[in-house]
This record gives sequence, structure tokens and C-alpha cells, in this order.
Amino acid sequence: MLIMDRDAPATISLFAGLEPQASDALLGLIGLFRADTRSGKIDLGVGIYRDRAGATPVMRAVKEAEVKLLAEQTSKAYLGPEGDALSTDLLARIVFGENLAASDRLTGIQTPGGTGALRLGAELVRRARPDATVWIGHPTWPNHAPIFREAGLAVLTHRFFESQTGSLDFDGMMADLAAARAGDVLLLHGCCHNPTGASFTAAQWDEIAALCATRGLLPFIDLAYQGLGDGLEQDADATRLLLERLPNALVAYSCDKNFGLYRDRVGALWGLGESAAITTLMHGNMLSLARSLWSMPPDHGAAIVRIILQSPDLRTDWRAELEQMRTRINALRGALAAAHPALAPIAHQRGMFAMLSITRAAVIALRETHGIYMAGNGRINIAGLRLDTIPTFIAGLTPHLPIV
Ligand code: LMR
Repeated sequence: MLIMDRDAPATISLFAGLEPQASDALLGLIGLFRADTRSGKIDLGVGIYRDRAGATPVMRAVKEAEVKLLAEQTSKAYLGPEGDALSTDLLARIVFGENLAASDRLTGIQTPGGTGALRLGAELVRRARPDATVWIGHPTWPNHAPIFREAGLAVLTHRFFESQTGSLDFDGMMADLAAARAGDVLLLHGCCHNPTGASFTAAQWDEIAALCATRGLLPFIDLAYQGLGDGLEQDADATRLLLERLPNALVAYSCDKNFGLYRDRVGALWGLGESAAITTLMHGNMLSLARSLWSMPPDHGAAIVRIILQSPDLRTDWRAELEQMRTRINALRGALAAAHPALAPIAHQRGMFAMLSITRAAVIALRETHGIYMAGNGRINIAGLRLDTIPTFIAGLTPHLPIV
């Protein structure tokens, strides 16, 4: 738009064409909850782990590693676009197991959180196959589609979940994916699906691997909750299966939840190539894309992860605390499922989240009348509950639940 003023030179308004943007509804809940002065308010909004006291403490091993880092770090000089390579390598062994992690077909670099890994992977796909469509199940984490769209890729959704029954619509998903073309990307949650908590069975993962193999689809696995579902090893089973069976894959990893390093932004992107030569090509492109996106990832959190994974004692303590977190979430799942028949599927789902089959109006009513905060689509962060707040939660929720 050209703004003319008789006394001033012509000015081009560079930003007038921008569309107004709604603020992020999920992150907005943090501020709304904080501003609520009611004493019995319950925060089931953004996905952070909470302990029995409702706190999100720094994990013990993280605190100890931070003390060690403070004493031992002698330089803040740049590390390079790959970040802390040893940290990423030690993480790879947890994600993929020793054998796969050592394969010359696998390469990874540190990223700013899982979101950075998703964006870097999206940019890599766009560079390699600009016409690829990314297939995303509905519902999914609200940031998924924007990350891929902003990288310039087309996004289509496929069926995934039946909110009425709280179960997977696997047949619907496979039917929708019949329209995917060779070279398209299939975005998958490796475990602890956000927002539904619904996971594929081992037999369904087999079918997904077969679909990707026969149709030439690239699985892009988002693994943000390893250790918070069925256990550290079990939560990586699906990822390992896909990488063992397929020529190519991408894995975006987040240490936000399982190391509690949310604001330190620690993640990694791994790529699997069909040969060592292709993997080297992928690695070089990851580095050059990272250089143009953020140049180098933040170091502090990745250094903490490295120190923990290098020390047998800290590693054992981290695993023990993570296991306590997982056990607490699953105990809450059991208690919720037992509290109302409409919530029964929650017992068999995994991870921090569940989707309630309630309307947006009910979500607002629960917030305004009872001080119960959740995402607008009915997603609840189960870790935000306590055994003693479940009755209050159920009392407020029951009028809005379907009769079972
Ligand atoms: C969530 O799903 O609540 C978290 O992963 C926070 C986010 O970035 O959306």
C-alpha cells in the first residue's frame, strides 16, 4: 500500500498486508490460569508434567548435572550447527538401541526442541521433494500442520480417532492414505499420542510399516514423550520397527517432557538413508539448513542431557524419576477411567493427554464456572490432576459427558 503525504516523501507500508493473527489458544491458557484467583482451580491445559503437589520441579539428575556443568564448563565458544554431538549420540542409543544407533545409515543433529526438529525435517523434505504432501492424522498437536505449511509443504489430514468412542479409526486412516502418492510424508506420533493418548497396536504398526514400504511413503516420527507411556524401551518400539523395516525415515525428538527441560529447548532430528552415501548427503543438508534457521542450537540443556547420560549414577536416577512420573500418570489414568463410564478408554490410552468428548461450550463453562482449564478441543493434561482433585473434576465434568 502506498501512503501519500503532501509534506513527506512517499512511504511504502511494508507490513500493512499482514493478516491479524489470533494469539495461540493453548499457550494463552497459561496466562488465563495464572490470572484466575480461585483457590480450587485446576490446570489441565498446556502439556507439562506435574507432581502430587501440582509442581513441575527440575528433575534431580538435571539439578546435579547443572551443578557439575557450572563447575566444569570452561568456555561458551560456538559448537557449530550440529550442537552437542556427543549428547545427540548418547540420546540416539536410548531412542534406537545400540545397534541401530551405530548404523552408518543413521545421522542426527541437535535442534532447539522437538519443534525445531520438526521444522528442520520439514525443510529437508521440501529441499528434497518440494511436491511432497504431508499426511497428518486428525486430531493432532495444533502446531503440527503450521510447522509443515510454513516450510512450504502441502498438508492433508487423514482420519485417526473417533471421539465418541474414544478409539482409533484405523480402517478410516488406511482408507484415506490410499490417496497418498509415493514420496509423500506420513507424520506419526511415536508413542503417547498428543492429544488423544490413543496408540496403535503392534499389529497396526506392522501394517503402517508395510504401507510405507509398498507405497513409498516417508514416515516422519514425532517422539516427544519417550518414557511416559509404557516405559523407556517400549515407547521406542514403534520407531525402531519402522527404522528397521524401511529405507528412509525421519525422527523428531524432544527432551522437554522426559528430562523436564521444557524452556531449555533440547531436541534432535535423525534421518535414516537407504545407504551411507545418502545419509551423508542428508547430514550435510541438515547442517546447512540449521545454519540458515538458527545457526546453532542452544547448548545448556543438551549439555545437561550429555552429563546425565555419561554418568551411570545420574542416568540411573533420571530413569528412576522418569519411571515415577510415568507410574503417577498411569495411576491417574486408572482413577479417571474408574470415576465415570464415559472415561473408561482413558485406562488403556497412554501418555499425558486424553481427549474428552465434550463441546467447546462445555470447555468454556468448566473454565468459567469451576476454574477447570483445558484446551478448546477437550484435551486434558492428565498430569495436572491429583487423586484428591479427581472428584471435583468429575463433578464439574459429568453434566457435559455423554450418557454411556
Ligand atoms: C502441549 O502440547 O501442550 C505442549 O507440547 C506445549 C506446546 O508447545 O503445545
